[in-house]
Amino acid sequence: MKQLKFLFTVTLSALLAIFLTVACTPSEEAPTADTGATEDAPAETLIMATSADYPPYEYIPSGSTEIVGFDIDIANYITEQLGYGLEIENIDFNGLLPALQSERVDFVMAGMTPTEERKENVDFTRVYYDAQNTIVAAAGSGLTTAESLNGRRVGAQLGSIQEGDAREIEGAEVVALNRIGEMIQELKVGRVDALIMEDTVAAGYVEANPDLEFNTIESEGASGSAIAFPQGSPLLEDFDGVLEQMMSDGTMEELVTKWFGEDSPAQAEAAEAEE
Ligand code: ARG
Repeated sequence: MKQLKFLFTVTLSALLAIFLTVACTPSEEAPTADTGATEDAPAETLIMATSADYPPYEYIPSGSTEIVGFDIDIANYITEQLGYGLEIENIDFNGLLPALQSERVDFVMAGMTPTEERKENVDFTRVYYDAQNTIVAAAGSGLTTAESLNGRRVGAQLGSIQEGDAREIEGAEVVALNRIGEMIQELKVGRVDALIMEDTVAAGYVEANPDLEFNTIESEGASGSAIAFPQGSPLLEDFDGVLEQMMSDGTMEELVTKWFGEDSPAQAEAAEAEE
């Protein structure tokens, strides 16, 4: 009986191998929802790139080496649903789009906003979480509106929509920095007067640094986060489908509460984390 089962497994694996070879030619990098993952054959592993400097979306808690966060939970959920393995690469935000365009990675989750400009080069799913821009500055500094930043040094993340928005502010001298942690440091030592940051991230940093405050500002254009793929990626539709399911069956809400909720310890802990 054991032998029979073995034979059956071998035959099945062989058939599967032939099927996969045929199905995957000529474009081997074009997986569909059916990855052919079985107990014997491990699932295909997708490579996701992120910029793990963005608590609570993605960050490395102090004393840890593992990237965690809202985006990571979503990525794990989706890839699990679709039968893929997941490997995560940490690169600066500014390097994420090039990594996608050269197809060095399968997708990007980094609290990334689907702007019209980016859509010219990469494809996006629906927006899974919304956000607004804020000004982060020393508490009581009075730097609470775009107008108040005239003549000031304003920090923003290199390559982010916040950098673009900062450049729109009349009279502001923009300092573009690679990582969010650096930006907070520069603000705390006074090398910049204010930062443009998303409310969802600013909240955590301000909670961890009571000498700072944040104020929401109006900004035109796209906002929120979506998952990005190389143009024409066949994965997009499947990912978007799972996102839709997560947003209608309460899974997303659970994750939002876990990472952004009032009593979520994740936020303060996140902001205190070294990068
Ligand atoms: N939502 C903004 C953008 O797309 C900022 C995202 C920054 N993300 C990060 N992981 N640092 O430009």
